[in-house]
Amino acid sequence: MSKDKNMRRIYVFDTTLRDGEQSPGCTMNLQDKLLVAEHLEALKVDIIEAGFAIASKGDHQSVKAIAGVVKNASVASLCRALPRDIDCAWDAVKGAVRPRIHTFIATSPIHMEYKLKMQPDEVYQRAVDMVRYARNLCEDVEFSLEDCSRSERPFIYRVVEGVIAAGATTVNIPDTVGYAVPEEYGQLIKDIRSNVPNIDQARIAVHCHNDLGLASANSLAAVMAGAEQVECTVNGIGERAGNTALEEVVMAMETRKEYYQAYTNIDTTKIYPASRCVTNVTGSRVQANKAIVGENAFAHESGIHQHGMLANPLTYEIMTPKSIGLPTNKMVLGKHSGKHAFESRLVELGFSFDSAHIKDLFSKFKDLADRKKYVGDADIEALAYDVQTMVVTGFKLDRFNTTASNAITPVSTVRLVVDGTPIEQVAIGDGPISASFAAINQILGIDVRLDTFELSAITGGSDAQCEATVRVRAGECNYHGRGVSTDVIEASILAYLQAVNVLTSEERRKSN
Ligand code: KIV
Ligand code: ZN
Repeated sequence: MSKDKNMRRIYVFDTTLRDGEQSPGCTMNLQDKLLVAEHLEALKVDIIEAGFAIASKGDHQSVKAIAGVVKNASVASLCRALPRDIDCAWDAVKGAVRPRIHTFIATSPIHMEYKLKMQPDEVYQRAVDMVRYARNLCEDVEFSLEDCSRSERPFIYRVVEGVIAAGATTVNIPDTVGYAVPEEYGQLIKDIRSNVPNIDQARIAVHCHNDLGLASANSLAAVMAGAEQVECTVNGIGERAGNTALEEVVMAMETRKEYYQAYTNIDTTKIYPASRCVTNVTGSRVQANKAIVGENAFAHESGIHQHGMLANPLTYEIMTPKSIGLPTNKMVLGKHSGKHAFESRLVELGFSFDSAHIKDLFSKFKDLADRKKYVGDADIEALAYDVQTMVVTGFKLDRFNTTASNAITPVSTVRLVVDGTPIEQVAIGDGPISASFAAINQILGIDVRLDTFELSAITGGSDAQCEATVRVRAGECNYHGRGVSTDVIEASILAYLQAVNVLTSEERRKSN
């Protein structure tokens, strides 16, 4: 992001892998998380909150793995203000180039009374003691006053002053329940700055939820009021209605930098690929009219707008598609396209693969081009994500056959190759797809519930590729899978297999 001297630097703290992952249905496996972390590094976010290490063994493992690969950003783990949580967070992040412990406790009357069942004095003491404890382990400690926007001013000032004196390097003022409105939230930041004597010894962070659709507006009001760190997620995913969307606050500051007199270090041209990656690994699509990254964000439909755009794009465009990394190359690829053209389109779409993967992808591209006249960006993205998110397990689809009509019970025969051995099963269902899923369950001997199932065409035309996404549940855990094919049943089977692949590999990992 470009900057002028005298502008304030705003630090971007990304919590897609923690708060984002807490949103319903956005669970990611380790491989997905590493892929998202790669995009966050490319975006040049300042801090990556990699997870909540104590939540489960898997979370601890993924925070540790991310800490081990991230080179530039700080890597944080969230933890409650408890010694064993802090120890666990530290164990997970200590291998990072720049580790951070992020600890929190609620400070609002309602949370203290009903959730924590603690008196304010006890909360104050715990916050101070635990920040001191964390600072003995790690130089960089962030403290969050959970539900701060509903906390009482004198108590906020007291806790903020106490944790800074105990060594907190960043103090976060969350609007946990998305209750604040911009003027009020900005005033809260101003009041903290003028009532906490040692406030200049720590960075003020803001963390807003979107329950009233105000998360980005609140974060920007806080920036105007002096906050220096904005916490956000790609596509705004997060608990309930989500968090502040990274792309919104960053592009607001970029587009209106004279107004905000602030800049971030974000490479805005990496926004679109990061958004697509998060959509793909979570299976959670952004609405078409979503600011910045929605499908329609740069589309001009009405005649008046199109006329203006042709005369001068600035008539209706406040930022360019290129500035967020939206591919603008409309060259169509088809079966006669060469490897170079294909490879350079992959790079334009934000992918980087080694030569072995490019070779594999190129042959898949050729297969697709045989079935489909034109291969568009969405098709190429789909191929690339399939390769990126492939989980190596012991089974794959060999062949299937379905019979269905409105007169007979749908039947599916599926043959999987399991650890090198072909195994076939026949099953019935409400339709050919559910019959196929039932056959797979029988082959693998699994008992899962199908939570959601969606089908959509990813490109136009009668030869369009279809994308299927499924979410399956086994006990407390849910798994997401995605499959793409020109055949809807094959796409569905592939999506289901991907989800159960992740499930079985997780189960194998746990039993090991
Ligand atoms: O919303 C919230 O308050 C949080 C904190 C734990 C930072 O996510
Ligand atoms: Zn949150």
